[in-house]
Amino acid sequence: MSSKESLIWHPFTPLITEHEPLKIVKGEGVYLHTEDGRKIIDAVSSWWVSIHGHGNKDIAKAIYEQALQLEHVIFAGFTHNPALKLVNNLKQILPEGVSKFFFSDDGSTSIEVALKMAFQYWYNQGVLNKTKVIAIKGAYHGDTFGSMSVGDRSVFTKPFFPFLFDIELLDFPEKDKEQEVIEQFEQLTDQGDIASFIFEPLVQGSGGMRMYSPEVLDRLINIAQSKGIICIADEVMTGFGRTGKLFAMDHLKNDADIMCLSKGLTGGTMAMGLTTCNQKIVDAFESDELSKALLHGHSYTGNPITCAAANASFNILMDKSCEDSRIRINSLHNAFAEKLKEYKVVENVRILGTILAFDIKGHGSTSYDNEIRKKIFPYFIEKGILLRPLGNVIYFMPPYIISNEQLEEVYKAVLEFVNEQTE
Ligand SMILES: Cc1ncc(COP(=O)(O)O)c(C=O)c1O
Repeated sequence: MSSKESLIWHPFTPLITEHEPLKIVKGEGVYLHTEDGRKIIDAVSSWWVSIHGHGNKDIAKAIYEQALQLEHVIFAGFTHNPALKLVNNLKQILPEGVSKFFFSDDGSTSIEVALKMAFQYWYNQGVLNKTKVIAIKGAYHGDTFGSMSVGDRSVFTKPFFPFLFDIELLDFPEKDKEQEVIEQFEQLTDQGDIASFIFEPLVQGSGGMRMYSPEVLDRLINIAQSKGIICIADEVMTGFGRTGKLFAMDHLKNDADIMCLSKGLTGGTMAMGLTTCNQKIVDAFESDELSKALLHGHSYTGNPITCAAANASFNILMDKSCEDSRIRINSLHNAFAEKLKEYKVVENVRILGTILAFDIKGHGSTSYDNEIRKKIFPYFIEKGILLRPLGNVIYFMPPYIISNEQLEEVYKAVLEFVNEQTE
């Protein structure tokens, strides 16, 4: 079937597809309600954003009240309480060294800002030869040109290869390769032209939910920072409780110089990006000269309604019941992993906090364009579950409010699916 009649060009989707997009008319808790009366469990928090589920009334109320009070104001030369409240809220839960917050629109723009901060950090000090970024193989940092440039070259970016700036790619620090990767990193960081090192802490999301240890990341950050290289933690996916701690960086001893936040920031209600930095970065910008300022911004930067949504989401996140739920999900995941491991087609079961992922064997290599993905999505939709695989990688990233029964329903469907597969 084709979508020739549709005026909408959907993201990450060929224009001609087998299935029309499902029309959703309501979101309520973990459920998405379709126009034809079905209820679908959103087991991936709609691209990992809806951490408190759909239709949260506290967030909705905060949005409504803020819209009546002040819906928007230009953010250069003006400020407002929702933004001030938000940074004060986040300051309490982010690493102590965070000293400034820069607002933008989404995950990709939070990365753009981070890259600009890191490059200009050197430029403002008259250092012009720090032009390279180190990223990790398999990385995905977004879809704008800067964020694509610092991601691994992949099917997502192939048409744009000639337009992406050069980076250094570090091998993925798998368990048995950690020492090798550290040595490779030592060499890369000795080149003298490295401005920054960017990474998705502990788990690469779009790259296939690939997990690595806090110890190896701590070593890499140590090495980078000992050579003055700016470390950028892309917490767009991992932030706000996803990995078992509030931020993935909380699993480490070292802090990054710059952090990128988005997705769970507003509980999945409104688009916002935030880039934080420490005093080291700020020092390089502290000047009244325009040429030393970060000349970046968006029309909706610091939007008050979005900030109000983020503040309401923060209150829910910080409630003890939310933390309890995250712990509960993690222990259910652990019990389920034991069952999953019994199936021959399942390999590499991995868990971090509320994320559980595994690979389906026997359909070619583990990659985003693995053909089995075409089968997985409709299979689960048919069973009333939204699971959008990354190629042959099936993962769960449920809203924290998911009940035990709802999670068991998802697990049951997954066991049925793996049971029907042959290697
Ligand atoms: C780790 C990471 N960084 C950046 C992005 C880009 O965020 P956005 O899609 O909001 O632009 C994503 C999106 O999936 C992501 O997972």
